Amino acid sequence: MADPHKRLDTNRPGNFYVDSTCINCDACRQLAPISFEEIGEYSAVVHQPVGDTERQQAYRALLACPTGSIGTEQSNKSLLNAAKADFPLLVEGGVYYCGFNSEKSFGANSFYVQHADGNWLIDSPRYLKHLVEAFEGMGGVAHIFLTHEDDVADAARYAQRFGAKRIIHREDVHAMPDAEEIIEGLDARLFAREFCIIPVPGHTAGSLCLLYRDQFLFTGDHLWWDPEHRQLESPRQLVWDADALHRSIETLGQYPFEWVLAGHGGRIHLPHLQMQAALRDLIERRQ
Ligand code: SF4
Ligand SMILES: [Fe+2]
Repeated sequence: MADPHKRLDTNRPGNFYVDSTCINCDACRQLAPISFEEIGEYSAVVHQPVGDTERQQAYRALLACPTGSIGTEQSNKSLLNAAKADFPLLVEGGVYYCGFNSEKSFGANSFYVQHADGNWLIDSPRYLKHLVEAFEGMGGVAHIFLTHEDDVADAARYAQRFGAKRIIHREDVHAMPDAEEIIEGLDARLFAREFCIIPVPGHTAGSLCLLYRDQFLFTGDHLWWDPEHRQLESPRQLVWDADALHRSIETLGQYPFEWVLAGHGGRIHLPHLQMQAALRDLIERRQ
């Protein structure tokens, strides 16, 4: 719950505000870019939402905020409930963004894939009744894919609730020691129909990407879209091995993905050739 006494001076006057407990995770800026921007070390409301669409986006941001740092002077219960009902939020083709980012993963995004052979959770949101019921209604969770050690959050609770198998790389398994499926080595592997697991060491030794339907690439903290500069980005800090990271980015050039769905950082959909060009541009900038 945001605290009006901690309201940041950088907020525009008006109903919505960010307080000083913000951890600058970026979730609000992805969900409501019209209203939220980064100012200094925090997010702030730079434009008070106008009309139902902007307000609903701002309420989605309020709900996704991992630290409860977004508040309103006066809450609109019906818009708040409508925003809650939006999660999991459809991205495209049976792929959803879960919302309710967890502080345990520094506010990382998590995703859900509805699939005839069993549904997948990619990293973990907060464990919440609303999401548990939503997942139940969508057919449960068969697999929980953990991109790396930082973003496991409440995965164990979801696994227990749904009897899901947790998947993590051997090098990061200390974050989820009782995971059911351990990925070894550097070879990509078709794990299930339409789901390919690609080891991408660099940010951490055991970072993984998940490629779904040769189209959606779930990247954890390995790769994301920078909306300000309109380019792909990869970690410059918090890097376990920079050479390995560079090789892992190059490896992705052989896959035909069109979506980048990241733990931290923006998501993007580009036609395959444009995505490949964006990837080459990133590789050149890192040299
Ligand atoms: S979602 Fe919350 S913690 Fe993350 S940047 Fe926005 S206000 Fe800050
Ligand atoms: Fe990370």
